[in-house]
Amino acid sequence: MNFENLLWSEKEGVAFVTINRPDKLNALNDKTLDELEKAFTHVRDNDALKAAILTGAGEKAFVAGADIGELAKLDPLGGKRAMQKGQRVLSLIENLGKPVVAAVNGFALGGGCELAMACAFRFAAENAKFGQPEVNLGIIPGYGGTQRLSRLVGRGIAAELILTGAPVDAAEALRIGLVNRVFPQKDLLVETEKTVRIIMAKGPLAVRFANEAIGRGLDMTLAEGLNLESNLFGLLCATKDAKTGLNAFLEKKKPEFQGA
Ligand code: COA
Repeated sequence: MNFENLLWSEKEGVAFVTINRPDKLNALNDKTLDELEKAFTHVRDNDALKAAILTGAGEKAFVAGADIGELAKLDPLGGKRAMQKGQRVLSLIENLGKPVVAAVNGFALGGGCELAMACAFRFAAENAKFGQPEVNLGIIPGYGGTQRLSRLVGRGIAAELILTGAPVDAAEALRIGLVNRVFPQKDLLVETEKTVRIIMAKGPLAVRFANEAIGRGLDMTLAEGLNLESNLFGLLCATKDAKTGLNAFLEKKKPEFQGA
């Protein structure tokens, strides 16, 4: 696939999506959001692709935010529309039905932090910096930051990060649970791919339903979430993959899942 602001590659079932505007620290302009939507729609709809890794070009930035030049031109209706568009693209990534993992290789500020949070989880390079600096600009996060950050790290820490606008380094991001693991920059993609391939060896429908139960469950009461979980469990009992996995254990064999 060819894009202006993304690099795209595929390797044995994994799509590598790299945001590529290094002169603007990979800031998300309208065109880049369009291209992310196209790229991830393709990942969703292409059966040969089982997972994706999202990263930024260069060693300095994952994404340094929404494009401030474009934000400066927005009127109230345009502002709402622009944020809804960003939210739509991030929700596509969050609900893709296939794991998308962020490999955060540098600044993940504003829309960059929000984009990383829409992924199933985040690995980071040691030089990564996370933050929601919008209040410095007289605005607030608009691609879901006020909602996803508090769900991920809790209300108090989210409020501190969003209200002060102060960034945190990778070690602090690890401590507060914003990232799962931190690696030297040179190892980040290899280590991310290793974990993605561990997930890809599992039952694809089980992975999909587990991620769905985690994500949708956060918006539900415990009773509703437990109901969702048992419904999805029941649905999996109708799949070949569940029979394959359960019987393989009993027969002491390695399961060969088919995603059916
Ligand atoms: N939107 C548009 N352009 C951006 C950008 C953004 N979010 N972030 C960085 N850039 C551009 C800079 O304007 C600069 O472009 P120029 O060379 O044409 O002037 C280029 O990227 C390099 O950035 P620069 O500020 O020179 O790098 P730095 O190393 O001195 O600082 C940051 C890095 C990330 C601290 C700084 O760029 C920054 O604060 N960016 C904005 C972060 C932000 O507020 N994001 C939330 C937006 S809602």
